[in-house]
Amino acid sequence: MFLPSPWRQFFPGILALAEQQQTWLDSAATAQKPQVMIDTLSQYYQQGVANVHRAQHQPGERATRAFEAARSSIADWLQADANDTVIFTKGSTEGINLLSQALAHHFQAGDEILISAYEHHANLLPWQQLARARDLTLKVLPMDKHGHLDIDYAIRQLSTRSKVVAISALSNVIGHRQSLQPLLAAARKAGAWTVIDGAQAAVHQRPNVQQLDCDFFVCSAHKLYGPDGVGVLFARQHAVTALRHWQFGGEMVRRCDYQQAEFLPAPLGFEPGTPSTANIVAFAATLDWLQSLDSQAIAEHEARLHAAVLTGLQERGMQIIGSPNCALISFNAPQIHHSDLALLLGEQGVAVRAGHHCAMPLLQSLGLAGALRVSLAMYNNGDDIQHFFSALDQALEILQ
Ligand code: ALA
Repeated sequence: MFLPSPWRQFFPGILALAEQQQTWLDSAATAQKPQVMIDTLSQYYQQGVANVHRAQHQPGERATRAFEAARSSIADWLQADANDTVIFTKGSTEGINLLSQALAHHFQAGDEILISAYEHHANLLPWQQLARARDLTLKVLPMDKHGHLDIDYAIRQLSTRSKVVAISALSNVIGHRQSLQPLLAAARKAGAWTVIDGAQAAVHQRPNVQQLDCDFFVCSAHKLYGPDGVGVLFARQHAVTALRHWQFGGEMVRRCDYQQAEFLPAPLGFEPGTPSTANIVAFAATLDWLQSLDSQAIAEHEARLHAAVLTGLQERGMQIIGSPNCALISFNAPQIHHSDLALLLGEQGVAVRAGHHCAMPLLQSLGLAGALRVSLAMYNNGDDIQHFFSALDQALEILQ
Protein backbone atom coordinates (compact mmCIF):
# COMPACT_ATOMS: atom_id res chain seq x y z
CA MET A 1 0.00 0.00 0.00
CA PHE A 2 1.74 3.18 -1.18
CA LEU A 3 0.76 5.89 1.29
CA PRO A 4 3.94 7.68 2.37
CA SER A 5 3.81 10.24 5.16
CA PRO A 6 5.80 13.41 4.47
CA TRP A 7 5.69 14.19 8.21
CA ARG A 8 7.14 10.91 9.46
CA GLN A 9 10.71 12.22 9.26
CA PHE A 10 9.97 14.85 11.95
CA PHE A 11 9.22 12.20 14.58
CA PRO A 12 12.36 10.45 15.87
CA GLY A 13 10.24 8.25 18.13
CA ILE A 14 8.26 6.79 15.27
CA LEU A 15 11.48 6.14 13.33
CA ALA A 16 13.04 4.50 16.38
CA LEU A 17 9.99 2.30 16.84
CA ALA A 18 10.14 1.32 13.16
CA GLU A 19 13.76 0.24 13.64
CA GLN A 20 12.53 -1.95 16.49
CA GLN A 21 9.92 -3.38 14.05
CA GLN A 22 7.19 -1.68 16.05
CA THR A 23 4.19 -0.05 14.38
CA TRP A 24 2.46 2.62 16.45
CA LEU A 25 -1.31 2.62 15.99
CA ASP A 26 -2.14 3.88 19.47
CA SER A 27 -1.83 7.63 19.01
CA ALA A 28 -5.24 8.28 20.58
CA ALA A 29 -3.69 7.07 23.84
CA THR A 30 -0.59 9.21 23.34
CA ALA A 31 1.21 10.59 20.31
CA GLN A 32 4.88 10.34 19.36
CA LYS A 33 6.82 13.60 19.57
CA PRO A 34 8.30 15.80 16.85
CA GLN A 35 11.95 16.87 17.00
CA VAL A 36 10.92 20.48 17.60
CA MET A 37 9.22 19.50 20.87
CA ILE A 38 12.24 17.51 22.07
CA ASP A 39 14.65 20.31 21.08
CA THR A 40 12.60 23.03 22.78
CA LEU A 41 12.44 21.02 25.98
CA SER A 42 16.15 20.36 25.96
CA GLN A 43 17.05 23.99 25.09
CA TYR A 44 14.79 25.28 27.83
CA TYR A 45 16.65 23.26 30.44
CA GLN A 46 20.09 23.88 28.95
CA GLN A 47 19.88 27.66 29.17
CA GLY A 48 19.38 27.61 32.96
CA VAL A 49 16.02 27.51 34.70
CA ALA A 50 14.06 29.72 37.06
CA ASN A 51 10.60 29.77 38.55
CA VAL A 52 7.95 31.97 36.93
CA HIS A 53 6.08 34.99 38.26
CA ARG A 54 8.04 35.19 41.48
CA ALA A 55 11.49 36.57 40.83
CA GLN A 56 13.22 39.87 40.14
CA HIS A 57 16.31 38.22 38.62
CA GLN A 58 16.91 37.94 34.90
CA PRO A 59 16.52 34.15 34.59
CA GLY A 60 13.15 34.49 36.36
CA GLU A 61 12.07 37.22 33.97
CA ARG A 62 13.15 35.14 31.00
CA ALA A 63 11.21 32.11 32.29
CA THR A 64 8.12 34.26 32.94
CA ARG A 65 8.30 35.80 29.46
CA ALA A 66 8.60 32.36 27.86
CA PHE A 67 5.72 31.04 29.98
CA GLU A 68 3.38 33.91 29.12
CA ALA A 69 4.42 33.85 25.45
CA ALA A 70 3.44 30.18 25.45
CA ARG A 71 0.04 31.11 26.86
CA SER A 72 -0.50 33.68 24.08
CA SER A 73 0.63 31.25 21.44
CA ILE A 74 -1.76 28.56 22.70
CA ALA A 75 -4.62 31.09 22.83
CA ASP A 76 -3.81 31.94 19.23
CA TRP A 77 -3.87 28.26 18.23
CA LEU A 78 -7.29 27.91 19.90
CA GLN A 79 -8.40 30.99 17.93
CA ALA A 80 -9.48 32.57 21.19
CA ASP A 81 -10.61 36.15 21.62
CA ALA A 82 -8.21 38.52 23.39
CA ASN A 83 -10.56 38.63 26.42
CA ASP A 84 -10.72 34.85 26.81
CA THR A 85 -8.52 32.98 29.29
CA VAL A 86 -6.16 30.03 28.97
CA ILE A 87 -5.48 28.23 32.24
CA PHE A 88 -2.69 25.65 32.31
CA THR A 89 -3.62 22.27 33.73
CA LYS A 90 -2.08 18.80 33.86
CA GLY A 91 -4.37 17.70 31.03
CA SER A 92 -8.00 17.35 29.96
CA THR A 93 -8.80 15.27 33.04
CA GLU A 94 -7.61 17.97 35.41
CA GLY A 95 -9.42 20.63 33.36
CA ILE A 96 -12.74 18.84 33.81
CA ASN A 97 -12.08 18.14 37.48
CA LEU A 98 -11.36 21.84 37.91
CA LEU A 99 -14.66 22.76 36.27
CA SER A 100 -16.70 20.25 38.24
CA GLN A 101 -15.38 21.71 41.49
CA ALA A 102 -15.00 25.36 40.58
CA LEU A 103 -18.60 25.58 39.30
CA ALA A 104 -20.12 23.45 42.05
CA HIS A 105 -21.28 26.35 44.23
CA HIS A 106 -23.74 27.40 41.51
CA PHE A 107 -25.73 24.16 41.69
CA GLN A 108 -28.69 23.15 43.82
CA ALA A 109 -30.23 19.74 44.44
CA GLY A 110 -32.21 18.66 41.38
CA ASP A 111 -30.11 20.66 38.90
CA GLU A 112 -28.96 18.73 35.86
CA ILE A 113 -25.65 17.99 34.21
CA LEU A 114 -25.89 16.57 30.68
CA ILE A 115 -23.20 14.42 29.11
CA SER A 116 -23.24 12.02 26.18
CA ALA A 117 -23.35 8.24 26.40
CA TYR A 118 -19.95 8.05 24.69
CA GLU A 119 -17.93 10.04 27.23
CA HIS A 120 -14.65 8.64 28.49
CA HIS A 121 -14.15 8.53 32.22
CA ALA A 122 -12.47 11.94 32.28
CA ASN A 123 -15.67 13.63 31.15
CA LEU A 124 -17.95 11.37 33.17
CA LEU A 125 -16.51 10.72 36.62
CA PRO A 126 -15.91 14.32 37.75
CA TRP A 127 -19.56 15.15 36.90
CA GLN A 128 -20.86 11.87 38.30
CA GLN A 129 -19.08 12.42 41.61
CA LEU A 130 -20.29 16.02 41.77
CA ALA A 131 -23.85 14.89 41.07
CA ARG A 132 -23.66 12.28 43.80
CA ALA A 133 -22.21 14.70 46.33
CA ARG A 134 -24.67 17.52 45.61
CA ASP A 135 -27.81 15.58 44.77
CA LEU A 136 -27.78 16.69 41.14
CA THR A 137 -29.10 14.68 38.22
CA LEU A 138 -26.62 13.36 35.67
CA LYS A 139 -28.49 13.02 32.39
CA VAL A 140 -26.86 10.79 29.79
CA LEU A 141 -27.73 11.78 26.23
CA PRO A 142 -28.24 8.65 24.14
CA MET A 143 -26.61 7.69 20.85
CA ASP A 144 -28.35 6.34 17.79
CA LYS A 145 -27.42 2.98 16.27
CA HIS A 146 -24.44 4.57 14.49
CA GLY A 147 -22.97 5.76 17.77
CA HIS A 148 -23.84 9.37 16.98
CA LEU A 149 -25.42 11.73 19.42
CA ASP A 150 -29.07 12.39 18.67
CA ILE A 151 -28.79 16.18 18.68
CA ASP A 152 -32.52 16.92 18.33
CA TYR A 153 -33.31 14.63 21.24
CA ALA A 154 -30.47 16.16 23.26
CA ILE A 155 -31.84 19.65 22.67
CA ARG A 156 -35.27 18.53 23.84
CA GLN A 157 -33.70 17.40 27.15
CA LEU A 158 -32.63 20.92 28.03
CA SER A 159 -34.57 22.89 30.62
CA THR A 160 -34.04 25.63 33.16
CA ARG A 161 -32.63 22.92 35.45
CA SER A 162 -29.78 22.22 32.99
CA LYS A 163 -26.61 23.73 34.40
CA VAL A 164 -23.83 22.07 32.41
CA VAL A 165 -23.65 20.36 29.02
CA ALA A 166 -20.29 18.58 28.74
CA ILE A 167 -19.54 16.68 25.54
CA SER A 168 -16.51 15.22 23.79
CA ALA A 169 -16.07 16.60 20.30
CA LEU A 170 -14.68 13.24 19.18
CA SER A 171 -15.29 10.02 21.08
CA ASN A 172 -12.13 8.04 21.84
CA VAL A 173 -14.06 4.83 21.10
CA ILE A 174 -16.45 5.63 18.26
CA GLY A 175 -14.20 8.07 16.40
CA HIS A 176 -17.09 10.05 15.03
CA ARG A 177 -17.01 13.81 14.66
CA GLN A 178 -20.31 15.61 14.49
CA SER A 179 -21.42 19.19 14.62
CA LEU A 180 -22.19 20.19 18.19
CA GLN A 181 -22.98 23.84 17.50
CA PRO A 182 -26.81 23.48 17.52
CA LEU A 183 -26.67 21.72 20.90
CA LEU A 184 -24.23 24.26 22.33
CA ALA A 185 -26.38 27.16 21.14
CA ALA A 186 -29.51 25.60 22.68
CA ALA A 187 -27.66 24.84 25.93
CA ARG A 188 -26.55 28.44 26.26
CA LYS A 189 -30.06 29.62 25.59
CA ALA A 190 -31.25 27.35 28.41
CA GLY A 191 -28.65 28.97 30.69
CA ALA A 192 -26.27 26.00 30.93
CA TRP A 193 -22.49 26.20 30.79
CA THR A 194 -21.08 24.39 27.80
CA VAL A 195 -17.94 22.30 28.13
CA ILE A 196 -16.18 20.72 25.16
CA ASP A 197 -13.72 17.93 25.77
CA GLY A 198 -11.33 18.35 22.86
CA ALA A 199 -8.81 15.71 23.96
CA GLN A 200 -9.20 13.69 20.74
CA ALA A 201 -10.77 16.21 18.36
CA ALA A 202 -8.12 18.92 18.74
CA VAL A 203 -5.48 16.61 17.30
CA HIS A 204 -7.22 16.28 13.97
CA GLN A 205 -8.65 19.73 13.48
CA ARG A 206 -7.38 22.98 14.92
CA PRO A 207 -10.03 24.18 17.38
CA ASN A 208 -11.87 27.39 16.77
CA VAL A 209 -13.33 28.15 20.17
CA GLN A 210 -15.05 31.30 18.98
CA GLN A 211 -16.83 29.48 16.20
CA LEU A 212 -17.76 26.64 18.57
CA ASP A 213 -19.01 29.28 20.97
CA CYS A 214 -18.51 27.03 24.00
CA ASP A 215 -17.88 28.41 27.47
CA PHE A 216 -15.06 26.00 28.26
CA PHE A 217 -12.77 23.79 26.19
CA VAL A 218 -10.14 21.35 27.43
CA CYS A 219 -7.36 19.45 25.70
CA SER A 220 -4.13 17.60 26.53
CA ALA A 221 -0.66 18.29 25.15
CA HIS A 222 0.52 14.69 25.03
CA LYS A 223 -2.09 13.69 22.45
CA LEU A 224 -1.21 16.78 20.41
CA TYR A 225 2.40 15.69 19.85
CA GLY A 226 3.43 17.67 22.94
CA PRO A 227 4.84 16.69 26.34
CA ASP A 228 3.12 14.70 29.07
CA GLY A 229 1.48 16.29 32.08
CA VAL A 230 0.27 19.52 30.48
CA GLY A 231 -3.10 20.63 29.20
CA VAL A 232 -5.20 23.71 28.84
CA LEU A 233 -8.55 24.86 30.03
CA PHE A 234 -9.91 27.59 27.82
CA ALA A 235 -12.66 29.78 29.29
CA ARG A 236 -14.69 32.57 27.75
CA GLN A 237 -14.55 35.87 29.56
CA HIS A 238 -18.06 35.67 31.01
CA ALA A 239 -17.55 32.05 32.11
CA VAL A 240 -14.19 32.36 33.81
CA THR A 241 -15.58 34.75 36.41
CA ALA A 242 -18.08 32.06 37.46
CA LEU A 243 -15.27 29.80 38.66
CA ARG A 244 -14.43 29.58 42.34
CA HIS A 245 -10.82 28.90 43.28
CA TRP A 246 -10.35 25.18 43.79
CA GLN A 247 -6.69 24.41 44.56
CA PHE A 248 -4.57 26.52 46.81
CA GLY A 249 -0.89 27.35 47.16
CA GLY A 250 1.85 29.68 46.01
CA GLU A 251 1.52 32.39 43.36
CA MET A 252 -2.27 32.50 43.33
CA VAL A 253 -2.64 34.85 46.24
CA ARG A 254 -3.19 38.60 46.28
CA ARG A 255 -2.82 38.72 50.06
CA CYS A 256 -3.28 36.37 52.97
CA ASP A 257 -2.90 36.11 56.71
CA TYR A 258 -3.13 33.07 58.96
CA GLN A 259 -6.90 33.06 58.92
CA GLN A 260 -7.95 34.20 55.45
CA ALA A 261 -6.81 34.94 51.94
CA GLU A 262 -7.71 36.85 48.82
CA PHE A 263 -6.90 35.18 45.54
CA LEU A 264 -5.84 36.34 42.10
CA PRO A 265 -8.28 36.01 39.22
CA ALA A 266 -7.71 33.51 36.42
CA PRO A 267 -5.42 32.41 35.00
CA LEU A 268 -2.86 32.70 37.83
CA GLY A 269 -5.47 32.19 40.53
CA PHE A 270 -6.09 28.73 39.07
CA GLU A 271 -2.44 27.76 38.68
CA PRO A 272 -1.14 27.38 42.25
CA GLY A 273 2.36 25.99 42.76
CA THR A 274 5.20 25.81 40.29
CA PRO A 275 3.88 25.17 36.80
CA SER A 276 5.31 22.72 34.32
CA THR A 277 7.11 25.58 32.57
CA ALA A 278 9.45 23.64 30.29
CA ASN A 279 6.61 21.41 29.12
CA ILE A 280 4.32 24.38 28.56
CA VAL A 281 6.96 26.17 26.49
CA ALA A 282 7.60 22.98 24.50
CA PHE A 283 3.87 22.49 23.96
CA ALA A 284 3.54 26.00 22.54
CA ALA A 285 6.49 25.37 20.22
CA THR A 286 4.82 22.14 19.07
CA LEU A 287 1.59 23.98 18.29
CA ASP A 288 3.49 26.73 16.44
CA TRP A 289 5.14 24.02 14.39
CA LEU A 290 1.80 22.31 13.75
CA GLN A 291 0.43 25.60 12.46
CA SER A 292 3.29 25.82 9.97
CA LEU A 293 2.20 22.52 8.37
CA ASP A 294 -0.39 22.02 5.65
CA SER A 295 -3.36 21.01 7.80
CA GLN A 296 -5.50 20.18 4.77
CA ALA A 297 -2.85 17.76 3.48
CA ILE A 298 -2.60 16.14 6.92
CA ALA A 299 -6.39 15.74 7.14
CA GLU A 300 -6.47 14.16 3.69
CA HIS A 301 -3.61 11.82 4.55
CA GLU A 302 -5.29 10.72 7.78
CA ALA A 303 -8.60 10.25 5.94
CA ARG A 304 -6.89 7.95 3.38
CA LEU A 305 -5.34 5.88 6.17
CA HIS A 306 -8.68 5.77 7.98
CA ALA A 307 -10.52 4.59 4.87
CA ALA A 308 -7.88 1.90 4.25
CA VAL A 309 -8.19 0.57 7.81
CA LEU A 310 -11.98 0.65 7.75
CA THR A 311 -12.21 -1.15 4.40
CA GLY A 312 -9.66 -3.77 5.43
CA LEU A 313 -11.50 -4.48 8.68
CA GLN A 314 -14.85 -4.71 6.92
CA GLU A 315 -13.42 -7.06 4.28
CA ARG A 316 -12.27 -9.35 7.08
CA GLY A 317 -15.72 -9.39 8.73
CA MET A 318 -14.66 -7.44 11.82
CA GLN A 319 -17.43 -5.85 13.92
CA ILE A 320 -16.90 -2.11 13.77
CA ILE A 321 -18.19 -0.06 16.71
CA GLY A 322 -20.45 2.70 15.42
CA SER A 323 -19.74 4.60 12.21
CA PRO A 324 -16.31 6.15 12.70
CA ASN A 325 -15.32 9.02 10.43
CA CYS A 326 -12.18 10.39 12.00
CA ALA A 327 -8.79 9.17 13.17
CA LEU A 328 -9.71 6.00 15.03
CA ILE A 329 -11.68 2.81 14.63
CA SER A 330 -12.73 0.37 17.36
CA PHE A 331 -13.63 -3.18 16.47
CA ASN A 332 -13.92 -6.78 17.57
CA ALA A 333 -13.34 -10.05 15.78
CA PRO A 334 -16.41 -12.28 16.07
CA GLN A 335 -15.97 -14.97 18.74
CA ILE A 336 -12.46 -13.79 19.69
CA HIS A 337 -11.59 -12.00 22.91
CA HIS A 338 -10.10 -8.56 22.26
CA SER A 339 -7.20 -9.23 24.67
CA ASP A 340 -6.16 -12.39 22.81
CA LEU A 341 -6.09 -10.52 19.54
CA ALA A 342 -4.24 -7.54 21.02
CA LEU A 343 -1.66 -9.88 22.53
CA LEU A 344 -0.94 -11.54 19.19
CA LEU A 345 -0.80 -8.17 17.44
CA GLY A 346 1.59 -6.91 20.11
CA GLU A 347 3.80 -9.97 19.71
CA GLN A 348 4.08 -9.13 16.04
CA GLY A 349 5.06 -5.53 16.78
CA VAL A 350 1.71 -3.83 16.24
CA ALA A 351 0.61 -1.48 19.01
CA VAL A 352 -3.15 -0.99 19.22
CA ARG A 353 -5.23 -0.31 22.31
CA ALA A 354 -7.49 -3.02 23.71
CA GLY A 355 -9.95 -3.00 26.58
CA HIS A 356 -12.64 -0.60 27.67
CA HIS A 357 -10.74 2.52 26.56
CA CYS A 358 -11.60 4.33 29.82
CA ALA A 359 -15.20 4.35 28.65
CA MET A 360 -16.60 1.40 30.59
CA PRO A 361 -20.25 2.53 30.60
CA LEU A 362 -20.19 2.97 26.82
CA LEU A 363 -18.78 -0.50 26.20
CA GLN A 364 -21.25 -1.97 28.71
CA SER A 365 -24.17 -0.24 27.00
CA LEU A 366 -23.08 -1.83 23.74
CA GLY A 367 -22.96 -5.23 25.43
CA LEU A 368 -19.19 -5.45 25.03
CA ALA A 369 -16.49 -6.38 27.52
CA GLY A 370 -13.99 -4.48 25.43
CA ALA A 371 -12.71 -3.81 21.94
CA LEU A 372 -9.56 -3.18 19.96
CA ARG A 373 -8.81 0.27 18.69
CA VAL A 374 -6.58 1.43 15.84
CA SER A 375 -5.79 5.13 16.03
CA LEU A 376 -3.95 7.14 13.43
CA ALA A 377 -1.74 10.19 13.27
CA MET A 378 0.03 12.20 10.61
CA TYR A 379 3.18 10.06 10.82
CA ASN A 380 1.47 6.76 9.97
CA ASN A 381 1.91 5.45 6.47
CA GLY A 382 0.80 2.66 4.16
CA ASP A 383 3.49 0.32 5.51
CA ASP A 384 1.99 0.66 9.00
CA ILE A 385 -1.41 -0.34 7.69
CA GLN A 386 0.06 -3.25 5.77
CA HIS A 387 1.94 -4.42 8.87
CA PHE A 388 -1.28 -4.20 10.89
CA PHE A 389 -3.28 -6.27 8.42
CA SER A 390 -0.65 -8.94 7.93
CA ALA A 391 -0.35 -9.27 11.73
CA LEU A 392 -4.15 -9.32 12.05
CA ASP A 393 -4.47 -12.04 9.39
CA GLN A 394 -1.88 -14.15 11.15
CA ALA A 395 -3.55 -13.65 14.54
CA LEU A 396 -6.98 -14.51 13.13
CA GLU A 397 -5.59 -17.67 11.59
CA ILE A 398 -4.28 -18.77 14.98
CA LEU A 399 -7.39 -17.79 16.95
CA GLN A 400 -10.22 -18.73 14.60
N1 ALA B 1 -8.00 8.61 26.68
C1 ALA B 1 -6.87 7.89 26.14
C2 ALA B 1 -7.30 6.80 25.20
O1 ALA B 1 -8.38 6.86 24.66
C3 ALA B 1 -5.92 7.44 27.17
O2 ALA B 1 -6.55 5.89 24.96
